[in-house]
Amino acid sequence: IKRIATASAPVNIAVVKYWGKKDTKLILPTNDSLSVTLDQDHLRSLTSSAAVEVEEEEEQGESASASAAAAAAAASKDRLWLNGVEEEIGSEGRLRTCIDELRNARRKVEGEDGGVEKIAHLPLHIVSENNFPTAAGLASSASGFAALVWSISSLYQLNSDSGGHLSTSALSRVARQGSGSACRSLFGGFVAWQGGEAKDGSDSLALQVAEREHWKDLHAIICVISDAKKGTPSTAGMQRTVQTSAALQSRISHVVPERMQRITSAIKQRDFDAFAKETMRDSNNFHATCLDTSPPIFYLNDTSRLVIQLVEELNRSSEQAGAGAGAIAAYTFDAGPNAVLYAPEKNVPLVLSLIRHYFPNADFDDPFKLLPSLPRDG
Ligand code: DP6
Repeated sequence: IKRIATASAPVNIAVVKYWGKKDTKLILPTNDSLSVTLDQDHLRSLTSSAAVEVEEEEEQGESASASAAAAAAAASKDRLWLNGVEEEIGSEGRLRTCIDELRNARRKVEGEDGGVEKIAHLPLHIVSENNFPTAAGLASSASGFAALVWSISSLYQLNSDSGGHLSTSALSRVARQGSGSACRSLFGGFVAWQGGEAKDGSDSLALQVAEREHWKDLHAIICVISDAKKGTPSTAGMQRTVQTSAALQSRISHVVPERMQRITSAIKQRDFDAFAKETMRDSNNFHATCLDTSPPIFYLNDTSRLVIQLVEELNRSSEQAGAGAGAIAAYTFDAGPNAVLYAPEKNVPLVLSLIRHYFPNADFDDPFKLLPSLPRDG
């Protein structure tokens, strides 16, 4: 090992969902989205990237084209282990795109500054682990690609934390090409993915809306309703929606743009009632759009719908209880049946006890697992 760097990145849960691509190679979304990055304790990926010397030392004073050839040769020897199992990186595809972008950025730095250690021509060994089961149906690709991009950019000293010139938003453009939602996991707190207009994706990146510290009182509760990895994968599902759903068009043209504004101001003002309303309505609009797809995509199951009913009733009773009581909790569902609930700290015990009450057969460890989880610090 010539040099090694490690990074971890948490899962993020969208409150305004990304669903649809206008460019499937560059991963350019049909709409903006917004998420909350969770803390590192429960759901995160931990990735180490090492530049390794496998063969003879490189010649001193090599030419630029020889260095390009060396980088190409190294690429063919890059290797990845995911949760202990070696995965094929391949000569194209999302992983290759991310690694190539970062290696090219490092080669550029090495070309411009003769004093910089030459490591871009060395193969990479990447070792990544999640602290949650990949099969849990929770967004492992978001934390996985974010940790991968951050660890390689640290190894190559590209990000500003390691003395480089690339901002976190600039790196989010690379993570985006691994998995769209991954671009949001490079920031903590409340994060928007600005879809962008440029055809080359240069303005399609993540921006932090507010730090975690801004709204410490907000908690997330992850309800693993089913840990089976089944159903329509999001990448395939969203393309089917783009091809067949008329409802997606209204989501793109006004539902999401208006909601992005309202939820951003709800976050800025720490207005939980407004935040909850927008979060639940966007989840429902997203699942309605899935249902409008042909053939339809069903992600929610009976338990998911019971959770929706419970939270809706809870919020209604609070509304009836009098002025200013506001929403107790908000639910949101990604491309699967698992619920994520958001609630102010004072409401968490009530929400947990009602879930215990109404799901008496639930095993709180498996398969119905509840992980009270705080969004992480910035
Ligand atoms: C429902 O980011 O997994 O979770 O870009 O094809 O890798 P790809 O898709 P992915 O889709 C996530 C969809 C979602 C909503 C969201 O996280 O915004």
